[in-house]
Amino acid sequence: MINIDAQNHVKGKSIYLDDIPEVNGTLHCLPFYAETAHAHITGIDLQDAKQLPGIKTVLLAGDIPGENQIGSIIPDEPLFAAHEIHYWGQPIGLIIGISEQVCRRARKLIKVSYDELPVITCPREAQKQNQLIIPPRKFTLGNVAQAWEACTHIIEGSTDINGQEHLYIETQGAYAWPKEDGSLYVASSTQGPTAVQRAIAAVLNLPMHKIEVNVVRLGGGFGGKEDQATMWAVMAALAARHLNKPVKISLHRMDDMCMTGKRHPYTADFKIGLTDNLKIMAYEVTHFQNAGASADLSTSVLERTLFHSTNAYYIPNVEATAWCCKTNLPPNTAFRGFGGPQGKFVIEAAIVKAAEKIGISPDDIQKANLVTDGNEFPYGQIVQDARAKQSWQECTSIYNLDRVKQEVEAFNLANKSYKKGYAVQPVCFGISFTNTMMNHARALVHIYQDGSVVVSTGAVEMGQGVNTKMLQIVHDIFGINTEKIRIESTNTLRIANTSPTAASAGADLNGKALEMACNTLRKRLTEVAQRHFDANEVAFRDGNIFSSDKSQQISWEKLVIMAFQQRVALSEHAHYVTPVIHYDKSKEKGHPFAYHVYGAAILQVTVDCLKGTYQFDSVRIVHDSGNSMNLTVDNGQIEGGLVQGIGWMTLEEVVYSKQGKLISNALSTYKVPDIYAVPKEIDIRHLDTIGPDLAIKKSKAVGEPPLMYGLGAYFAIRKAVKAFNPYAELTIDAPYTPEKVLMDLYKKH
Ligand code: MTE
Ligand code: HPA
Ligand code: MOS
Repeated sequence: MINIDAQNHVKGKSIYLDDIPEVNGTLHCLPFYAETAHAHITGIDLQDAKQLPGIKTVLLAGDIPGENQIGSIIPDEPLFAAHEIHYWGQPIGLIIGISEQVCRRARKLIKVSYDELPVITCPREAQKQNQLIIPPRKFTLGNVAQAWEACTHIIEGSTDINGQEHLYIETQGAYAWPKEDGSLYVASSTQGPTAVQRAIAAVLNLPMHKIEVNVVRLGGGFGGKEDQATMWAVMAALAARHLNKPVKISLHRMDDMCMTGKRHPYTADFKIGLTDNLKIMAYEVTHFQNAGASADLSTSVLERTLFHSTNAYYIPNVEATAWCCKTNLPPNTAFRGFGGPQGKFVIEAAIVKAAEKIGISPDDIQKANLVTDGNEFPYGQIVQDARAKQSWQECTSIYNLDRVKQEVEAFNLANKSYKKGYAVQPVCFGISFTNTMMNHARALVHIYQDGSVVVSTGAVEMGQGVNTKMLQIVHDIFGINTEKIRIESTNTLRIANTSPTAASAGADLNGKALEMACNTLRKRLTEVAQRHFDANEVAFRDGNIFSSDKSQQISWEKLVIMAFQQRVALSEHAHYVTPVIHYDKSKEKGHPFAYHVYGAAILQVTVDCLKGTYQFDSVRIVHDSGNSMNLTVDNGQIEGGLVQGIGWMTLEEVVYSKQGKLISNALSTYKVPDIYAVPKEIDIRHLDTIGPDLAIKKSKAVGEPPLMYGLGAYFAIRKAVKAFNPYAELTIDAPYTPEKVLMDLYKKH
């Protein structure tokens, strides 16, 4: 089954936020923001802006009726800066006018004066100055201090990993309009409708029941709208309430890039110890996370960096420390992988450095240390149903790693100005929100008298195909044609207290709730049919209901109307809670994940050693999707995640000036992979497994894990560079842009 949105997307018929027909009298709003990264505000001159024809008003912190606060985990983020500026792009106030254009003109007329303060953009510097969002966290397993003795090889080093711009195609936006009794309807492009509802209620000093948030779909979120869609919706709601008019906000791309946080850059120190037979005995790592100016989701992201610090490897002695460092950058936020990819990059860098020092191939070390059932992750969860070795085995045999190695070697011998490289990239990613409390969801199903069905869940469709999966669930339980089923928008009046659609858990959590609701309804309908047929067993198939001996049959529509006439409830609301999981932060031990997703990829690249450019010849993946419920959707997620991961590791470079100003603030200066940057060949095979019960229909979560195959892109390029320039000392700092590749190709030793 193809994605149910595919046709309308291609035809341009899908409705995004900016496509909502405007209500008569709609106003537009535009924030104005700090043009310095750290300062005291000494004056704000709004006079000229306010007098511009078409401008209705300009709102500041003092105009907020409730709290000037939108921080979700830690209340450290004002909606509008009142006294002190903490990052370049921080909103100070909101301009409201009859059009976006007039707001833009007014923005140029606003003068803010500042007393400048020192700017910190580097997490190590912040850590030295004790600028921390929370105290450091540490995961330990075994005894690292004692383990070094048993190691033949001990390698130390450090790495830098840059951030990443989400670049959702639809920029941030919201549209709010007042209803009759002081309540508000808010259309928002958010992954977290409840987060938006809660923040609007707090800022406007209203009870949550007065705020209705509706989400039809997102033109991409990738984590960038998990927490950071809130601010814009709150602004639109504030303006709507202040003027009692519908108000819309839709960010220009450059404002979006300047004002929003990105994937967290990290810098890390590591020390890794191996035995003679390449067993990793000890691993010590310290992560310095660049959180930006306020917490946002950084503390949770930090946690996932620790959870994934050993990737798919079993290491008996681990000490992993992570610092959440406060800097004068926009608050960094969730991005596909949620800190996991950064944690994994460091262990992969450590393995590559160790391999280079020992004089072997990194895959020899990777292969020798893959997790297996009964091993313990550093956070205490015991490995169950591990697929790391199986993925590796199938990947390297189906795609013949030995032949890849021989071909690369032969090519490099025969060619001077082109070199090839390869890398194998295993992935192990835990599924569940690391914050156990967030792992629950709800679904609401109505069957109407004509037999048509409408479904609401807490899941937000952002291109990942969750609505298609929800539709399949209903179809399979009721056995009716998909045209009879409609997946409605995500709405806080229909589904309350949602967790954001995130952590790749959207389909599992909401799908399980939906399954429960549908099963309850089917049970009720079954009883009606049993009485009608006077039979014990009935089956729902192809729009009909059959008695078990197939002697009797009625249509779904007929059964529904019979149930209605017998006063049987045709609506159901269900609540699902992930069982088994728990975590004790005071001990940093527990069982935080419902299950893990595994896989392995072989990436091969050709580097042009005159230009420093590169092209990926192939990426070949064996992925553990359990018993995939939709291979079309899942393969789309794998391809998309992979290319997004490759982009992060190669072309995409977020650059801030020393003063904290975003330099790469447009698509002319921030390069994302285009169709030419996509590997020439992407081959995906799925492991033939039955899948875990905690996954929806035993079909494992797929949203984030494939991004991490992209990590191998860095190391494949490095291998090619080393073939050209074998003796230079090369750092391991991502991304490996063509400029950096060129510098490394000609680096002196
Ligand atoms: N795929 C598309 N097309 N667009 C997106 O914004 N977000 C990713 C992933 N795949 C995203 C996507 C992220 S960050 C997550 S957490 C998951 O989808 C969320 O959806 P799921 O929980 O339904 O997998
Ligand atoms: N993953 C993604 N998003 C989240 C998480 C998580 O573990 N926790 C809170 N938001
Ligand atoms: Mo995804 S980063 O969990 O929204």
